[in-house]
Amino acid sequence: MNDPTRVFVVLSGEHPTLPLAEMSAILDANRIPFKIAGSFFKLVEIDADIGAVKTIAGRGAFMDEVGEEIVHSGPTVPEIDDAVKSSDLPRYLQTDESFSVRVLRFGGVSKEMSRVKLEGHLGWLMGKVTNARVDLENPQRQFRGLLAGPYFHLGLIAHRRPDVFVADRRPRMRPSFHPSTMVPKLARSMVNLSQAVTGSTFLDPFCGVGGILLEAGLLGCQVMGVDALRRMTRGSRRNLKHFGMDPLGLVRGDARYLPIRNVDAIATDPPYGTGASTLKSTTRNILKDFLPNAHSILPKGRRAVIASPVGTKTPDIAEASGFRVMDRHEVYVHRSLTREILVLEAY
Ligand SMILES: C[S@@+](CC[C@H](N)C(=O)[O-])C[C@H]1O[C@@H](n2cnc3c(N)ncnc32)[C@H](O)[C@@H]1O
Repeated sequence: MNDPTRVFVVLSGEHPTLPLAEMSAILDANRIPFKIAGSFFKLVEIDADIGAVKTIAGRGAFMDEVGEEIVHSGPTVPEIDDAVKSSDLPRYLQTDESFSVRVLRFGGVSKEMSRVKLEGHLGWLMGKVTNARVDLENPQRQFRGLLAGPYFHLGLIAHRRPDVFVADRRPRMRPSFHPSTMVPKLARSMVNLSQAVTGSTFLDPFCGVGGILLEAGLLGCQVMGVDALRRMTRGSRRNLKHFGMDPLGLVRGDARYLPIRNVDAIATDPPYGTGASTLKSTTRNILKDFLPNAHSILPKGRRAVIASPVGTKTPDIAEASGFRVMDRHEVYVHRSLTREILVLEAY
């Protein structure tokens, strides 16, 4: 591993707490040392090995962009000019290479400066400092300028989330659809919060048509699914197959009596309500029976990430079942449902 440098991460603004928690969970799970040096709105600065961070940047649902910071200055043009001229920029941009630079502004700061004007100015200045040339269509190097709070940052982009990140996996695009299925980004972030890594054995004990299993499989986990209904496990199998994945196990069964001895990580969305989907039980009673079981198959220090409606008192049930509640996020679904995502660790 190389020495840490200042790395910038642009997180998605889709949720107030999940993106940062997801980023930290991915870095921890992949044993990449990092220290948070600062954050403003969607920008997080960390000290870490950029080469290592780049290898995991594509795993996050909410990690939009990652790169290495080259310039950190005040937000005015003279301050930016001085900082760019005295920076290490020539190390990142060689003479005769082509480049582009785009600016983002967070939190409505430095409004007196037009983004487009600043982009033009930076293109001119960076060209002057390095003799490289601007090419907005097909640049060899892409730079990001960030106006965030009282600072300006300039960095070389190492990874950017593709625009079509989840489009092919939207619930209606999969061969098997069920209204209870989870959308890919939330499912992906839950898998990441469980600290599953490539090669981990991963279980969704209420797997439905496999929204969470799909994301775990795409992250290289060996996936196992359980559902009380045969048509659900069939749906999961079809969906996994459609994306070229073979589950390690997919069985019809009751999550309260799991037919599994050991797994590295669990992420799941148990049924809500008191109807057919909960087999005439309640979410609370299902969790009371399921969580001690989940605890018995997770080695100490491993994680289970559980979604449940706010008000189910899942944290109390989890603690009574031998888990430590590490983190909690609320996700608004509609007027009568807000989900609580709990990160639990077995001890
Ligand atoms: C909210 S859905 C899961 C959706 C899934 N995460 C997805 O993205 O497709 C809950 C599932 O739990 C199943 N279920 C209900 N009670 C169960 C039990 N006791 N054991 C296992 N599965 C159960 C239901 O059949 C349903 O498919």
